[in-house]
Parts: sequence; C-alpha cells; structure tokens
Amino acid sequence: MLRGLYNNIYTNRRVLITGHTGFKGSWLSLILHKLGTDVYGYALDPPTDPSLFVEANIGELMTSTIGDIRDYNLLLETLKKIQPEIIIHMAAQPLVMESYRNPRETYEINVMGTVNLFDAARQVKSVKVILNVTTDKCYENKEWHWGYRENEPMGGYDPYSNSKGCSELVTSSFRSSFFNPKDYSKHGIALASARAGNVIGGGDWANDRLIPDFIRSISKGEKVKIRSPFAIRPWQHVLEPLSGYLALCEKLFTQGPAFAEAWNFGPDDKDAKNVEWITNTICNLWGEGAQFEIDKNPQPHEANYLKLDCSKVKAELGWIPRWDIETTLKTIVQWNKSFLSGSNMRTITEKQITDYFM
Ligand SMILES: NC(=O)c1ccc[n+]([C@@H]2O[C@H](COP(=O)([O-])OP(=O)(O)OC[C@H]3O[C@@H](n4cnc5c(N)ncnc54)[C@H](O)[C@@H]3O)[C@@H](O)[C@H]2O)c1
Repeated sequence: MLRGLYNNIYTNRRVLITGHTGFKGSWLSLILHKLGTDVYGYALDPPTDPSLFVEANIGELMTSTIGDIRDYNLLLETLKKIQPEIIIHMAAQPLVMESYRNPRETYEINVMGTVNLFDAARQVKSVKVILNVTTDKCYENKEWHWGYRENEPMGGYDPYSNSKGCSELVTSSFRSSFFNPKDYSKHGIALASARAGNVIGGGDWANDRLIPDFIRSISKGEKVKIRSPFAIRPWQHVLEPLSGYLALCEKLFTQGPAFAEAWNFGPDDKDAKNVEWITNTICNLWGEGAQFEIDKNPQPHEANYLKLDCSKVKAELGWIPRWDIETTLKTIVQWNKSFLSGSNMRTITEKQITDYFM
C-alpha cells in the first residue's frame, strides 16, 4: 500500500478512469489501487498486444467496463451505476501518425468523446472533480526554444494535436457554461485539464512511438530506425504526470474551483532532449551491441521544438518532477529487460511505483 499520500483523499474514494486499459491508464489504475481507491474504468479493449493491462493483470484490481466513449447511452448508464466522485479522462486516439491515417475517427474519439463525458457527468450528482488529460501538443506550435505557458493559444498541425487543442476548447466551454467556478455552490463540479509532455515508461507498446519502436527492434536483434533525430520533446516517466494528476485532483476535490483551470506537467528544462540523444543513451544502457540509424524516408510533419513551461504547477501546486531523464531511461530498460526475461510484471511495476513515491 502507498499510505499517507495525497492526504489520504483517495482511500475508499470512487474514481473513474476513462482509458484504463491503455498505457497510462494501467499505471494509474495500479497506483490508485495501492492508495486504497475503489477504481472503475471505462475504455475499449487494450489498444496493443501485449499490453500492461493484461501483463500485470490490472483488470482484477478494479471494476472495468469495456465500452466506446462515443456511445453516449452506455457511458451515461455506466456513470449512473458507478456514481464516481472523481473522473480522470484519458480515453483517446493518442497517436500522431494514426491521426494522419484516420483523422475523422481521431476527432470523433478525442473531441466528441470529451463532449459525451462532460455532458454525461452533468447528470450524475456524485461527480465532484473532472480532469481532462490532453497533451503538450495542444498548443499552437511556434517552433521556438522556450516552453509554452498555459495561457497560450491552442493549435495543432496534425489531426491528433489539433483534436487535443479542440478538447481543451471543449473543456473551457463546459467550464464557462455548466461548471463555472462562480456557480460552484450550485453545480459542485471542478473541471480542469492537464497537458503532459512525451510520456515514456515500461508497458507502452504503441506503434510509431520512439521507446516502443526501440524495444521492438532490439528484441528482434534489428537496428533501431529513428525519424526526426533533432526533434526536441519534454520526455518524462509516466509516473511523473500521473503523480501530478493525482496532486491536482486532490486540490480540485478539497478546494474546488480555485484549481479549475489548465495545468502543464513537464520535465525540467535540462531533460528536454532530442530524439538522437535519447536513442543513443538508451542504446548504451541496453548494451548487447544495440545500435540505431536514421530513417531517411520522407516523414509526415511533426514539430521540431516542443517544451512546456511548468512554473505555474511548481509554484501553485508544489508539484516537481522527481526522476531526471537518465533515471527514467534506466528504469525503462530495467522494466523491459524484466519483461523479456519472463518476470512477473505486476511485481516489477509495483516496485517501480513504490521506488517513485516512497
Ligand atoms: N503517452 C504519451 O506520450 C502521452 C502524452 C501526453 C498525453 N497523452 C494522453 O494520455 C492519454 C492516455 O494515453 P496513452 O499513451 O495511455 O494511450 P493508449 O493508447 O495506451 O490508451 C488509450 C486508452 O483509450 C482507450 N480508447 C481509445 N479509443 C476509445 C474509444 N473510442 N472509446 C473508449 N476508449 C477508447 C483505449 O482502449 C485505451 O484504454 C491520452 O488522452 C493521450 O492523448 C499521452
């Protein structure tokens, strides 16, 4: 158990995670289980095979509903049945390359899915907190070297990034129209959004993401191919934003409207590295002759520079990253080597959670 964290507000609390079968959702479900929470999930089946959800047997720790976020009636019925107090919304189509292949579905899931959830939550009296998880990519990217602040314009070049910018605008509209902080005593719901950086960690097998692509190639004994070697991203271990979401939901639960706004959760500036640096470092940590090469094929547009300014979350929420990029990469190598050697992945994942929090 993780005792005493977040002033124990998660103990015996009913928390619903949308997207619980995914990479971040599985880690979050396990953390909440260890905090003594009644964890509920609503999502489609795990998006990859293998998946952390299956490998660590997360489903047995929670009440899982397999459903589509676009299915408003099932979503509403599920919320009414669960009566959640806190909702953390992570169900999404989260991949840039997939959004170029399937733009319409990406918008349907990421934008209308968010609308469906907010509208359903309006009808369920138990709900006190809703956190919409978007991304660093929601900002209008100016390709500049400093970090984006929460008050900068939404944008997004590719459909994924843009759909998350739209999801932020939906959040803002619902907060003004239905969950207005001025009328908190009437509706009782604090709605916020969280914009995290490029999240990495064990248990991610998504396509077209650097670390999963790396692990796939290495385990087949192939050279790793990377695109956009000079692209800079705010890399962070999955436990970083998740610890931040929980800190934010605690404040939303205890202090309501004062925290009902947008928040960046990113690494320290020194940890925003380019793709080539990350790949080189992980090859060295992996050993066994791991090597990479640059994919020279033409690639769809991706931002070159992307950093988050996290001054606000540090000052107002007291949240700071705990693991630097070297620790993060070491942890990922350990996790994946344990997986490839057939270890119990629940135990390994729980150990990394305890190392992080305690
Ligand atoms: N991984 C990252 O680097 C990163 C960075 C910033 C933000 N995010 C955001 O965090 C959230 C989780 O990302 P992830 O990396 O865990 O993604 P993931 O693909 O591993 O998980 C996505 C989850 O959403 C569910 N889902 C997808 N379509 C659905 C639908 N139509 N109805 C119901 N559920 C559906 C999947 O079943 C899965 O549970 C997403 O909102 C993503 O945009 C991720």
